[in-house]
Amino acid sequence: MASRILMTGVGAYLPENIVTNDDLTKWVDTSDEWIKQRTGIEQRHMVAEGELTSDLAYHAAMQALDNAKLSSADIDIIVVATTTPDDTFPSTATKVQKKLGASSAFAFDVQAVCAGFVYALTVAESLLIAQKGSRALVIGAESFTKLLDWEDRTTCVLFGDGAGAVILEKTEAPHEYGILASALHSDGTLRDILYVDGGPSATGDVGHVRMEGQDVFRHAVEKLSSVMDEVLVQADIPAGDVDWLVPHQANIRIINGMQRKLGLPADRVVRTVHKHANTSAASIPLALSEAVHDGRIKAGDLLALEAIGGGMAWGASLVRYGKPQS
Ligand code: UT7
Repeated sequence: MASRILMTGVGAYLPENIVTNDDLTKWVDTSDEWIKQRTGIEQRHMVAEGELTSDLAYHAAMQALDNAKLSSADIDIIVVATTTPDDTFPSTATKVQKKLGASSAFAFDVQAVCAGFVYALTVAESLLIAQKGSRALVIGAESFTKLLDWEDRTTCVLFGDGAGAVILEKTEAPHEYGILASALHSDGTLRDILYVDGGPSATGDVGHVRMEGQDVFRHAVEKLSSVMDEVLVQADIPAGDVDWLVPHQANIRIINGMQRKLGLPADRVVRTVHKHANTSAASIPLALSEAVHDGRIKAGDLLALEAIGGGMAWGASLVRYGKPQS
């Protein structure tokens, strides 16, 4: 019988420091009105001096373990999706492994920018199905503000820092819970519309985010729509059966467009972009964690996750959350 991969716990962590749109107007030529109207963003969290991506990831992981009633010794695989690792190497995942004391796990990073979480989820699911372990910790963690050019108002107002984590557990029992479908895509010819102008091999420094916003917006609407259709067909589930859309949080206009396209009521979408801004690979698990912990998402709910970002890379997953009552 085929294994099924359940999502049995979630956690999140945000740095304490909050920066409002009004705060940003002291540094760049922008306004609260412009940012809110074009993106839905009102504030973002920002790491403190010395606070690392692995610190955010560790706190999110601890909450997810607690939520799943597991300890770090139960984890076989740790995957961290990040574009802002602590160091060029070793992986942030191995730093999280050390902080957690998860000595029996193997750990590595996945880099697919804003699509990182859906990529990491699918990679971890595949490893579990391939019998490389029984439980995985999948984390999206970013100190994305470290990549911003604070003189470029077209990008610096859009991003924030944070981390979210989920626990995946393998089961052989036949039921309708767990990851039901997933699809991943990329198109490297679109590199120039969203990239960082630095890196170890290209320049030797970290670089800054550069984006052609309107082009990215256009591709996001088109590609998220088609990848969502793809996973619904794969799972043979009508869009109307989705209980919650938990999308990447880049722009409220893209999120609302996807809600209309799926024909979902407005209150069936988890929106955190106003509070968190775009936290890249962290945005989906941050949103998911908020809606699980405040009681909106319950065991048995069907979740549609989708994200797109630099590469371009994009993907989607359908997950029936939690595990059946035994
Ligand atoms: O996570 C990866 C996926 N990323 C995304 O999905 C982002 C997709 N793109 C977007 O969300 C939107 O394109 C943006 C929010 C980035 C930009 O919104 P837009 O409605 O496409 O604005 P625009 O780039 O067309 O700029 C409109 C105007 C320009 O002025 P002019 O040329 O019309 O005079 C910009 O210079 O707004 C100006 N502008 C700003 N004004 C105040 C650009 N940034 C700002 C700013 N404050 N921060």
